[in-house]
Amino acid sequence: MASNMTILKMIKDKRDGLAHSAEEIRWLVQNVGSLPDYQLASWLMAVVCRGMTLDETTTLTEAMAKSGEIMDLSDVPGAKVDKHSTGGVGDKVTLVLAPLAAAAGLTVAKLSGRGLGHTGGTIDKIEAIPGAHCELSIERFKQQLRDIGAAVASQTGELAPADGVLYALRDVTGTVESIPLIAASVLSKKIAAGADVILLDVKTGAGAFMRDDASARELATTMMEVGKRLGKHVTCVVSEMGQPLGSAVGHANEVAEAIATLKGEGPKDLTDLSVSLGALLLVGGGLAKDQAEGEAKMRAVIADGTALEKLRCLIQAQDGDPSVIEHPEKMPQPKLRVPVEATTAGYVQNLDALSVGLAGKEIGAGRLVKGAPIDLAVGVMLHKKVGDKVEKGETLAHLLVNDESKVPHASEALLKAYTIGPEPTQAAPLIKAVYAVETAAAK
Ligand code: URA
Repeated sequence: MASNMTILKMIKDKRDGLAHSAEEIRWLVQNVGSLPDYQLASWLMAVVCRGMTLDETTTLTEAMAKSGEIMDLSDVPGAKVDKHSTGGVGDKVTLVLAPLAAAAGLTVAKLSGRGLGHTGGTIDKIEAIPGAHCELSIERFKQQLRDIGAAVASQTGELAPADGVLYALRDVTGTVESIPLIAASVLSKKIAAGADVILLDVKTGAGAFMRDDASARELATTMMEVGKRLGKHVTCVVSEMGQPLGSAVGHANEVAEAIATLKGEGPKDLTDLSVSLGALLLVGGGLAKDQAEGEAKMRAVIADGTALEKLRCLIQAQDGDPSVIEHPEKMPQPKLRVPVEATTAGYVQNLDALSVGLAGKEIGAGRLVKGAPIDLAVGVMLHKKVGDKVEKGETLAHLLVNDESKVPHASEALLKAYTIGPEPTQAAPLIKAVYAVETAAAK
């Protein structure tokens, strides 16, 4: 009874724009597993609409991190690094970066999430590899770090479990787009995972939860400040998500694209972003003196095949079938590949990442209700991106589908994601700002 009174008061207070006390926030996090979804969802929506102060966000983050164990990685040798994206369309950077950074000598202790809203999640993508999973106990996670220098785990009953509950609800209740909720969700996982170097890739643009650069910068500076208050140095990159990253949007196809990238055959934007983020990690971890040296080391481990070998070890260590590296077709495949053709000639002026993400979700690549299974075979392959020249009737993209009834609407939505005009256009720069630990200012 008392608990229902407290949550009801918190919903009403937040609805009315009042701040919660630290005790209330800690109480909510401690009880998150037993509170009804409808009350939690109402509270989340009130936070989306009314926001939180920095004090509230810090308390929420700390309480969520402490809802499980905080990993102590002091008995794992090497510079422990972790990177997290605030969510994008086609963002498979972790699948490239974790083996890259480990091959370059870092220890990658990564706690990842599932799909959220219209964006995909690393855990779901990894599950497209037969046998692979991210449910690692703390001991197994640490042993894997010692053995191969990389591990990608999901939040479990042991690690940031409160984020697990809130994340699954936010996914299906329109309550993702909130600076305090994203900051607490991301940072609680990073604190729980125990890395020394934390790099956050804050996405901005149509396909991001922060649609404009000003909001993305605000999210970045909030996460740096909350991190600082909780004793963690956080570096943030603000990066472009106006159009999807790479060509593949989905699950199995994104893993295949990550594999191709580690073979040196990936799309330029995905390769460049992974290399830049990897270099920041190398500098943060003391293994490169500057960004240029870091980037050169990253490109070297792609060129000599050691990063690809590291991916093989990672897949094997997490019970997956590493032969997907030679045979990506062993991952779930769609029944149909439906072309979407240009209705006019010109140049791609814009490719709206949100529309692409929603088209993918509509054909089964995202969840509409909590905990629903997703179709790991379906998605979108983009053949034309911003700046590309297009002829009338040329294939812009393929929809990868299993359910034929979804094709007409999804094809129309995908076609509408493209703006084609007469003027040649250039894609926006990939990295818009770096907020580094030392200066906490955009460079
Ligand atoms: N990634 C997370 O882990 N949480 C969010 O809220 C958004 C992206």
